[in-house]
Amino acid sequence: MTKANVRARAGRTAGASETRSAVKVDGAALAQRLDETLPRLDTLEARLVAVSDAIPGRIAFSTSLGLEDQAVLHAIAATGRRFDVFTLDTGRHFPETLETLEASELRYSPLKIRVVFPDAKDVELLVARDGIMGFRQSVEARKACCDVRKVRPLNKALAGAAGWLTGLRREQSAERAHVPFAVWDAEHQLVKLNPIADWSLEQLDAYIADNKVPVNPLHAQGFPSIGCQPCTRAIAPGEDIRAGRWWWENLDGKECGLHNRPKPKEAHA
Ligand code: ADX
Ligand code: SF4
Repeated sequence: MTKANVRARAGRTAGASETRSAVKVDGAALAQRLDETLPRLDTLEARLVAVSDAIPGRIAFSTSLGLEDQAVLHAIAATGRRFDVFTLDTGRHFPETLETLEASELRYSPLKIRVVFPDAKDVELLVARDGIMGFRQSVEARKACCDVRKVRPLNKALAGAAGWLTGLRREQSAERAHVPFAVWDAEHQLVKLNPIADWSLEQLDAYIADNKVPVNPLHAQGFPSIGCQPCTRAIAPGEDIRAGRWWWENLDGKECGLHNRPKPKEAHA
């Protein structure tokens, strides 16, 4: 898929729906190719270069400043390739997360992390309706908060991008066990890329240590997975690595809506 290719199709007498499906077919084929290529490449840097070579247009990288994303950030800086790095500031982050953002910009200067905020009016309406701690009332209220503070800003940040990089790993949870390396994301109309999908925690820790990557100090205090402060707690030894996220909800389906759930058969749909 090239931009010219897509535009040429758009410029024909074809209607908008034909254009959209042409983009989808090309994008899906490209995703399929990358899904096969990436696991054959040994290093994260090589995977990112392959992604940057293959995808025409802006490639966005969403970072939570967590361990996985810090590894991807380091590799991005090492490649010297252009990626649109952004983080969603929900307004409820730990101070340590914001310190990690600053430490990362200092370490990887001149690389910048774009900070994307939720719509102020949406937040005001949500808080007026549910209260400042409304997300504790029910799963629906929690999802409404994630929708306003994360999902809508994510959609805004991804608009117009051709690719979307994340730090998802299969080992993180049962829901993520089938995360592909690359998949056509019909909702956002782009290729979603998970370049460390197959990494173990040991591999990740070794990469971070070998490269002296700056990390959120909370990881050393029992927080393997870090989200918003009121919705994240430390875990006890032996607990599931996502047990500290929305811990009052059932383990099944503990996702905030940023990522839908890829199943084996849907991975290339
Ligand atoms: S979450 O869905 O439970 O919050 P998790 O913390 O495991 O996600 O992170 C998974 C991926 O989601 C990250 O690698 C990153 O791409 C994206 N992500 C999560 N939180 C944010 C955030 N605040 N800003 C940008 N991207 C995020
Ligand atoms: Fe709101 Fe908690 Fe979701 Fe953050 S994780 S957006 S505070 S419900």
